Amino acid sequence: MVEIAVADHGQAAALACRLFVDLFSRKTNAVIGLATGSSPMEIYRMLGELAASNLLPDLSGISAFALDEYVGLPAGHAESYRAVLTREWTARLGLREDQLHVPSGDDSQLESAAKAFETALAGSGGVDLQLLGIGSNGHIAFNEPGGPLSSRTHVTSLSEQTRLDNARFFGSLDEVPARSMTQGLQTILEAERILLLAFGEQKAQAIAGAFEGPITRDLPASVLQTHPNVTVLVDEAAASAFSRLPLNSAKSWPLQDA
Ligand code: GLP
Repeated sequence: MVEIAVADHGQAAALACRLFVDLFSRKTNAVIGLATGSSPMEIYRMLGELAASNLLPDLSGISAFALDEYVGLPAGHAESYRAVLTREWTARLGLREDQLHVPSGDDSQLESAAKAFETALAGSGGVDLQLLGIGSNGHIAFNEPGGPLSSRTHVTSLSEQTRLDNARFFGSLDEVPARSMTQGLQTILEAERILLLAFGEQKAQAIAGAFEGPITRDLPASVLQTHPNVTVLVDEAAASAFSRLPLNSAKSWPLQDA
C-alpha cells in the first residue's frame, strides 16, 4: 500500500525523525536502509542534533545498510557514498564504523562484493525502515530505467541524466563515475517499511508516473506500488504533476501506527 502526503522539506524530515525515534525505542537492533543524494540529509542532521542532546535511545545495537556506491572512485573520495554516510550518519549519530555497511565500489572484485553485501543484509535480519530518494528519471538507488524489476545487488551503468544530475556533487561531469554498485529493486522491496522523499519540480513527472502510472521497468520507482507499506512525502512542487488531488496533508497524517 502506498500512502502519499504533502510536506515541505523541513516537515518531512521532522516526520521521518519521529519514525526513526519510534523504531529505535521499540527495537534496539533496528536495521536502517540509508539513502544518499540531498533529500535525506536534513533527516540525518536532525537525528544528529537529537543524538548530541542525548535524546535518542542507546544506538549501540543498530546497523545501517546503504543503497548504493559509485564504482571506481579512489578509496576515501569525499563523494563516495561510504564517505558521505560516514560523515552524515555514523559521525552525527556517534556510531561505530562497523555499524555501517556500504556495497563495495572497488572494481577489482565486484561480483563477490555484491554477493557479500546481500549475505550481510540477509544476516542482519532485513531492513526495518528504508529511506529512498528518487532520480529525476525515476531511478531508485542506482536502478536506472530499463533494468529488470527482479534485480538484486549488482553493477549498473549510470544514465547520462543521472550523471548530469549528480555532477553537482563533483567538480565536473567528467568526474562523475560511469558505473555503480546498487541494491536491486527486489532487494529494496524486502524492507519492512519504505519512506520515499521527493522535493522540487524536477521530481514531479517521475513521482506522478511512479504512483499513478503502470508498473514498468521504464520507471523503476513504479515497482514500489507492489510493496505493502510505502510512505511518500512530497513537497508541493514534487506533487504538482499528480492528477489525483487532493493528497493528504502531512499535518493530518497519522503517524501513530508507525
Ligand atoms: C542518487 C542516488 C539515489 C538518490 C538520487 C536523488 O542518484 N543514488 O539514491 O535517490 O540521487 O538524489 P537527490 O535526493 O539529491 O535528488
